[in-house]
Amino acid sequence: MKIKAALAREKGKVTIEELELGAPRRGEVLVKLVASGICHTDFTTMNLEVPTTLPMVLGHEGVGVVEQVGDGVHALAPGDHVILSFPSCGFCESCQQGRPYACDDSTALFFSGFYADGEKRITDRKGEKVGALFGQGSFADHCIIAERNAVKVDPEVELKSLCSLACGAQTGAGAVLNRMKPMPGDSIVVFGCGAVGISAIMAAKLAGCSTIIGVDIVPSRLALAQECGATDVINGKDFEDISAEVKRITGGKGAHFALEASGVPALVRQMLQSVRKEGLAVLVSFVSGPVEIDTTMLFVGPCISFAGTVEGASNPPIFIPRLVQYFKEGRFPVDKLATYYPFEDIHRAMEDARSGKAIKPILLF
Ligand SMILES: NC(=O)c1ccc[n+]([C@@H]2O[C@H](COP(=O)([O-])OP(=O)(O)OC[C@H]3O[C@@H](n4cnc5c(N)ncnc54)[C@H](O)[C@@H]3O)[C@@H](O)[C@H]2O)c1
Ligand SMILES: [Zn+2]
Ligand SMILES: [Zn+2]
Repeated sequence: MKIKAALAREKGKVTIEELELGAPRRGEVLVKLVASGICHTDFTTMNLEVPTTLPMVLGHEGVGVVEQVGDGVHALAPGDHVILSFPSCGFCESCQQGRPYACDDSTALFFSGFYADGEKRITDRKGEKVGALFGQGSFADHCIIAERNAVKVDPEVELKSLCSLACGAQTGAGAVLNRMKPMPGDSIVVFGCGAVGISAIMAAKLAGCSTIIGVDIVPSRLALAQECGATDVINGKDFEDISAEVKRITGGKGAHFALEASGVPALVRQMLQSVRKEGLAVLVSFVSGPVEIDTTMLFVGPCISFAGTVEGASNPPIFIPRLVQYFKEGRFPVDKLATYYPFEDIHRAMEDARSGKAIKPILLF
C-alpha cells in the first residue's frame, strides 16, 4: 500500500515522501497511526550518533488502530487500539525471563531498520529498501510492527495523549518504579526535566517519595516539574555545585536515589555526588561526551550503586497498561507534556523539540 512517511535519507535531514509499505507477515500487524511522539532518540538516529543506516523512516512512539493482522497473530485483531513499543527478539534469555529491554538483539532491532527476519518492509519510488526505526517507523500514516511490540489498550482512553508511554514516559517512570523501587518517604533527585525526567518525577510522586527534587535550567520546565510532583526545584544556572544543594535539601545526607536525564556530561558527576551512602544513581540519558570520575571517592567510600537502564527496565505488555491505568486515575498526567502538530508540520515540531519550546511534540495523522 502507499504511505506518506517522514524519512531521513542523509544525516540530520528529514523529508516527507510517498513510499510503498508491504503487507504484515507472520506475527505482525498493520497499524493505522493516530499520532506519534518525537523523542530525543529520533534525533540521535537521524544524526548517526548510533549504529544505523539510512534511508530510515523515523518515529518510535506510535499509537494507532490495528487495521490488518498477519498469520499467527493471536492477541490482536483489527480495530484494537495499540501503543507501539520497543522491539525485542522474544527468544533470548532476557526476553524469556520477561526483561525484553535487555534483549541480546536490541541494538540491531532498535537501530538497523531491519525487522527480526532480517528484511525491510518499506520501498521507495526507485525500488530502494527503506528501514523502519525500532521495527516501527511511526512518522507515517501506517506502519508494520511485530505483534509482541504492540500493546493493546483500553479504547476509551484518547490515544493521542498516550504517545510518550511508548518510550519517553516509559523510560522515566520505569527507571523509578522498575529499577529504583523507592519506598514511601524516600528522596530522589532528577537531573533534566524533559519528557523522561518529568515522567520520573510523576512516578516518584506515585511511589510516595517525600522529597522529589527536579533540576533543570529552563524556568518553565522547573515550574512544570513542580506541577507534576517535585517538592523542590534547582535551577542549575544558580549553583556551582548542585549536589551541595541536594544535600542541603535532604538534611545533609543526599538523596536515596538520583536519575540523570539531561545528557549533560558534567551532571553525571553531580548525580553521583547527590546520592547518600548506599544510594542508587541511575543513568538513562545518552550523555553527549566523556565523563571523568574518581571511582574510589564516588563509589567505594560511599558504597553507592550506579546503573544504566534502557526503556525504564520495563516489560511493555505489563508496564504500559499500568501507566494507562495511572493516567486514567489522574496520577500520571502525561498529557501535560504534549504539544500537538499536524504531521505536515514535522519540521516545526522537530525544531520546537530541539529549541526546548515543546517538551513532547506529538504529530497527528
Ligand atoms: N535509556 C533509554 O531507554 C532512553 C529512552 C528515551 C530517551 N533517552 C534519553 O534520555 C535523555 C532525556 O530525554 P528527553 O526526551 O527527556 O530529552 P529532553 O531534551 O526533553 O530533556 C533534557 C532536559 O535537560 C535539560 N538540561 C539541559 N542542559 C541542562 C543543564 N546544564 N542542567 C540541567 N538541565 C539541563 C533541558 O532543559 C531539558 O529539559 C536523552 O538523552 C534521550 O536520548 C533514553
Ligand atoms: Zn531477546
Ligand atoms: Zn525514544
